Amino acid sequence: MRPLPSSASGLLRSRPAHRITSLAAPQCLASQQQQQQRRTKASAVDQVSGQYDRTPTFDSPFKNNENNPTTKIPSFKNYMSKRPESSNKTFQYFMVGGMGLLAAAGAKATVQDFLVNMSASADVLAQAKVEIDLAAIPEGKNVIIKWRGKPVFVRHRTSDEIKDAENTDWHKLRDPQPDSERVKKPEWLIMLGVCTHLGCVPIGEAGDFGGWFCPCHGSHYDVSGRARKGPAPLNLEVPMYDFSEDEKVVIG
Ligand code: FES
Repeated sequence: MRPLPSSASGLLRSRPAHRITSLAAPQCLASQQQQQQRRTKASAVDQVSGQYDRTPTFDSPFKNNENNPTTKIPSFKNYMSKRPESSNKTFQYFMVGGMGLLAAAGAKATVQDFLVNMSASADVLAQAKVEIDLAAIPEGKNVIIKWRGKPVFVRHRTSDEIKDAENTDWHKLRDPQPDSERVKKPEWLIMLGVCTHLGCVPIGEAGDFGGWFCPCHGSHYDVSGRARKGPAPLNLEVPMYDFSEDEKVVIG
């Protein structure tokens, strides 16, 4: 390298020092800051990794070390089954299956007992149906029997009553129903003796229409049990019944 001419070196020496430092100082500061940040990051990573790299301090009491020669681990070999694994499994399956069967039988018996206990008793079942001997009821007469705690009217109608019931213009009634829908045999009218107004028992062969009359509030029913006058909104109810024989009827 050639030496600078004396005039040039003199010129460099003559430049003020603060101008040189003002150019180099920002770059030096930036690199120092970067180095400082790198150091900070590295130390943080070292701290975190150091937490996980720590050697565990737990010493197992069962560890066979020389510092603790008194530790004795018991042997369970005497309790191990000497039979083969398949034979053990067969026994376990048998026990599980047997216990399951016993539990199912117990549950079935419990449910069965409960249902039998809750079902209707024999005397209640006997009241569910009532058989009536119609031969004992003369024509033009009305009998009342008790069925399921309610009165039932059985009327042996005369031919005039049948004609009267059939010829009524039922379309204009408040509960329109033809007589043929209310009887299975025209001479036998069977219906519940409960007033459809508020539940009184009407009186037979009374009222303005020759049928039934309820004295509680003055409802009149005709010879087919249809509401004709008074506050009763509906006809007297016809229960389920069937003629078991010619002269016998079963209600219910
Ligand atoms: S209960 Fe029969 S008219 Fe009121």
